[in-house]
Amino acid sequence: MILLKLGGSIITNKERPLSPRTKTIDSIAKKLRKIKEPIIIVHGGGSFGHYWSVKYDMHTKPAKYNYHGVAVVKNSMVELNKMILDNFAKNRLNPYCLPPTDFMSGNKPIISKIKEIRKIAESNLVPISYGDALWYGQKKSYILSGDRIMSILAKILRPRLSIFVLNVDGLYSDFKTKSLIYDMKGNQASIHDIPMDVTGGMKRKVEEASTIANMGLKVFFVNGNKPQRIVDAIQKNKFEGTVFRG
Ligand code: IPE
Repeated sequence: MILLKLGGSIITNKERPLSPRTKTIDSIAKKLRKIKEPIIIVHGGGSFGHYWSVKYDMHTKPAKYNYHGVAVVKNSMVELNKMILDNFAKNRLNPYCLPPTDFMSGNKPIISKIKEIRKIAESNLVPISYGDALWYGQKKSYILSGDRIMSILAKILRPRLSIFVLNVDGLYSDFKTKSLIYDMKGNQASIHDIPMDVTGGMKRKVEEASTIANMGLKVFFVNGNKPQRIVDAIQKNKFEGTVFRG
């Protein structure tokens, strides 16, 4: 089974609020058609949910965030999710809409529901979940990122490969040779060795990716502007991007 996250930076134009990158979504969906293995998709918020969460100062830590903020983040994620669903359906991928409230209670995963996702993926459906603003309890809410959903699902489902689709080629270990392979044998601390301008967003991805790699699972960062690379990794074991190994 494959677990694949479509980052907000690849499916939306992060420079402009509420702007999807429709052509990119379509070209990725067309490539995913070639994959015969069960696949679960998670997508990010980009210039939809992420944009509003910044505007309303909402974070991953549970707190009493502005309720209007919760509402607009959720609404914008439904809107972005609908665009992905429509595109995937048009491309005959049989998307199965899976809001994170289907398998989360507060900030705890519902194990039986997550096991059900495997069954859905093994039929001819493609479960599609997404980062969102979630109710936590005691009048609090929190942002559940798509990256965090990746490690929650990976822990229970143990996919053969977890892929993060980004808007860049990967993480450069050496800028001169453009060597892109990391052997993440270490722990979280090794993240700090990554010689790059680690933005908040990228740092979180690297953290979740190393959490998954430390479960003994393989993780791959790939450029979604070259969607054939996704197919090559899955079908040919050819990795043009960054590989994390546990
Ligand atoms: C979006 O998920 C969470 C929201 C703010 C609704 P991500 O945090 O995984 O989104 P991207 O991929 O970084 O945009």
